[in-house]
Amino acid sequence: MATFPDNFLWGVSTSAHQFEGDGLLNQWSEWERQARIRSGDSCGLACNWWNKPEADLSLCQDLGLNALRISLDWARIEPAPDRWDYAAIDRYCRLVEAIRERGMRPFVTLHHFTHPNWFEARGAFLPSDSPELFARFAEFAASHLSGLCSDWLTFNEPNVYAVFGYMFGEFPPGLRNRVRDTAVVLANIHRAHALAYDVIHRIQRSASVGLATNWVELQSATFSPTDRLLAYLYDGVFNRSTLELFLSGGLQFPFGALAPEVPEVLDKTDFIGLNVYNRLHVRSPWNDALRRTGGLFVPEDAPQGDPGIELPYGEAYPDGVISAVREYARLHVPIYITENGVPDRDDRIRPWVLVQTLRNVSRLISEGFDLRGYFHWSIVDNFEWNEGWTLRFGLYELDCATQVRTPRRSAHLYREIVRANKISDELLSRFSEPPAAGGILLSGGCH
Ligand code: BGC
Repeated sequence: MATFPDNFLWGVSTSAHQFEGDGLLNQWSEWERQARIRSGDSCGLACNWWNKPEADLSLCQDLGLNALRISLDWARIEPAPDRWDYAAIDRYCRLVEAIRERGMRPFVTLHHFTHPNWFEARGAFLPSDSPELFARFAEFAASHLSGLCSDWLTFNEPNVYAVFGYMFGEFPPGLRNRVRDTAVVLANIHRAHALAYDVIHRIQRSASVGLATNWVELQSATFSPTDRLLAYLYDGVFNRSTLELFLSGGLQFPFGALAPEVPEVLDKTDFIGLNVYNRLHVRSPWNDALRRTGGLFVPEDAPQGDPGIELPYGEAYPDGVISAVREYARLHVPIYITENGVPDRDDRIRPWVLVQTLRNVSRLISEGFDLRGYFHWSIVDNFEWNEGWTLRFGLYELDCATQVRTPRRSAHLYREIVRANKISDELLSRFSEPPAAGGILLSGGCH
């Protein structure tokens, strides 16, 4: 049996752009207008949360959840520099109230990959004054929401934002191999976090302010020094950038030499959120296929959910939480698994991922790690950035044409675990092994 403490937080995570739909005006909407979404899909109404989030909030309540993570879309709230949309912030206040009314503790993220187009046009987080602009937004948001929520995430995954936008060209602004820009963006985002941390604490003394970072287990494919060096470098810039910045105020060697130090971020986090999904293998890029991915690959026999349009999503790897938690425990602050899940339209592999990840979470807690909650990604299928509607992460399937939700078996499974606050031996043994590969679907279904 795997057990959890009485006050353990059971939640799901969501984000504004992926759930709200209807008239978003951020840099990702612009990316879509420029036909850059690889799947060709459009976000459209998404899960229709801007008009009607209540349906999904009730599904969360029915699962027995006591926490829910959302994000604010900065572009709705500050559509032009220093011009504030009071109706938009009011709409978010109503959303947070609705979450609380259903017995769930709201966790609010201020930047989940999206910001206003005017901010993108001036270089997003590259200019040295960008942190102050973010802090001004944080101040506005906190001053309106502080009566309703006290758990804040300033940023979602600075590492994914910087690396996908400036190294892989996958996210706006779509640049590739800009090592220096990546380092500067990482440094500026953490300075923005530090400023927002102070601003929020000034408004709300009892606030708990942290951020979420993404952890990808990186496995050198061989013992060769070149493969291991590459894995070490990726690990440094991707997995450890946030850790190093909080511990030392700078980025790990050699990236530290490329960006300003950020002494103000030292120790400035009340908790850390870990988003843990998968494992990637690293090999020095000696052929074309490896060169295209910078040496990252997934072995064919590794357990996987559905693949992305051009690339695999990653090996489903429930043990990733173990390394992530052990490493980030060095910060000596409470830890939440703020995202975990797998793209799996047919719910083939998700039950195994869910049960085995949670078994690891339970073990880590019994070993003494201060792990306070688990948020699954996500309650319902949602708009997966460049993959559009191709990758389906929901406990509930979404028919985006009709907005009808249908539970996958993982919804029932998660409800059973959450309501019992434990995983029975029967579930642990039923989902002890990943199912055999097969049944992979590629078409998105909603355009
Ligand atoms: C992001 C989510 C995304 C999820 C699944 C996370 O890295 O925070 O926005 O949908 O991964 O890919």
